Amino acid sequence: KQTIQEIKEKMEQGLLPQWILTDPSIYEREQEKIFARTWQFLAHDSELPEPGSYVTRWIVDDPILVVRTNDGEIKAFLNSCPHRGTMLCTADFGKKKSFLCPYHGWSFNLNGDLIGVVAGDKVYGEEMKKDDWGLRPIAQVAAYQGMIFATLDPDASSLEEYLGGMKWYLDILLGRSGGMEVRGLPQRWVVNTNWKLVLENFSGDPYHVQSTHRSTVELGISPKDPLYAGYGHQVVLENGHGINVITAQGQGRPERPPYQGLPEEMWPLFESNLSKEQLRVFAKTTVFVGSIYPTLSFNSPVHGSEGHLHNYLNFRVWRPLGPDKIEIWSWFMIDKAAPDDYKEDAYKGYISSFGPSGTLEQDDTEIWTRVAQTSKGYMARNKVLSYNNLLNYLMGFERVLPDENFPGPGIAYPTCYLDAIHRATHEHWLELISRD
Ligand code: FES
Ligand code: FE
Repeated sequence: KQTIQEIKEKMEQGLLPQWILTDPSIYEREQEKIFARTWQFLAHDSELPEPGSYVTRWIVDDPILVVRTNDGEIKAFLNSCPHRGTMLCTADFGKKKSFLCPYHGWSFNLNGDLIGVVAGDKVYGEEMKKDDWGLRPIAQVAAYQGMIFATLDPDASSLEEYLGGMKWYLDILLGRSGGMEVRGLPQRWVVNTNWKLVLENFSGDPYHVQSTHRSTVELGISPKDPLYAGYGHQVVLENGHGINVITAQGQGRPERPPYQGLPEEMWPLFESNLSKEQLRVFAKTTVFVGSIYPTLSFNSPVHGSEGHLHNYLNFRVWRPLGPDKIEIWSWFMIDKAAPDDYKEDAYKGYISSFGPSGTLEQDDTEIWTRVAQTSKGYMARNKVLSYNNLLNYLMGFERVLPDENFPGPGIAYPTCYLDAIHRATHEHWLELISRD
């Protein structure tokens, strides 16, 4: 059996034992040591516009009810009635003054207090303390740039501390024009793969673009230059987070307009909301793609043809359903300040590329499913330290050095064709599952 120390040694050499991707005992450990103790994304502020607005979400296997109270505050509760435990609210979203349990009819207000018990005085007597039987609150809830997160761990450090240097990039993505809005509902679909695998794809894998998404090259949407998606910076951040700031300019394609092709009338907003350094990075970037550890990723691409370019933000939760199954939750977000027809075009671009039936999405899920399949075979599970079960994470290993002049936080490398984030993410994973 491979010990933690042996896995660590291999990782330090840029190698990853394949069996750890889909091993059921590893998954059990991840639930306790990672998912229950890190910050998880629940919803965007714009999904809860008024007092009484609610959405139902998941933190892995825990159903969560997210509510805006009459004071405008966001609260999150376990979506399970404290009487006999059935799911309290079964709708995806809506607006209510109170929540009524379908089993025995107890009711709860927006603050989670128990306010009604059917025949209460007669069956429980006057002595029943309603205060003891409110909804069970989630340990910590906090928001950054409209993104609402929660953690089941009362002792976890604050959200801002957890995000660390990622805040600087989130300010560009979410705060540049005064705020984003979610359009439509988050789309959801199930893929037979492991969460670590999709996380690392979004965190640090522009290298797959030219092969997995080959049709974009054949159709002339992406240039033929095999280094195309590698131009830019890969930035390793704390706590397993990472981002690729892809410039992809000037390699056989016309110079792209600044600020991801966002309309010129919005530029003054960027200038008032961002620092000089943030503006400099934003102006040159065509794609931002990255992850907030452990289960949230984002992609901010540019679609369309020259003269009709549009940009949007796609946030995704990789909700683990088991060692080899995830439910993808995908949100489309766009600047509130963008013109209406621009929003509409961008939404169509999202649906046809990264929505569940989108061409690029089909490419990716096919590949991810097959990695999970092969990771379950005898050879990949063989925990003897041979090359049988070790995967290659060696790109740029001890060869590409950080670019000290990059203005953003984190360790920034001058290329996105690099396994630096992959390695950092898996090392962080090992540290988390081996704690205590
Ligand atoms: Fe909710 Fe009984 S389970 S009222
Ligand atoms: Fe992809």
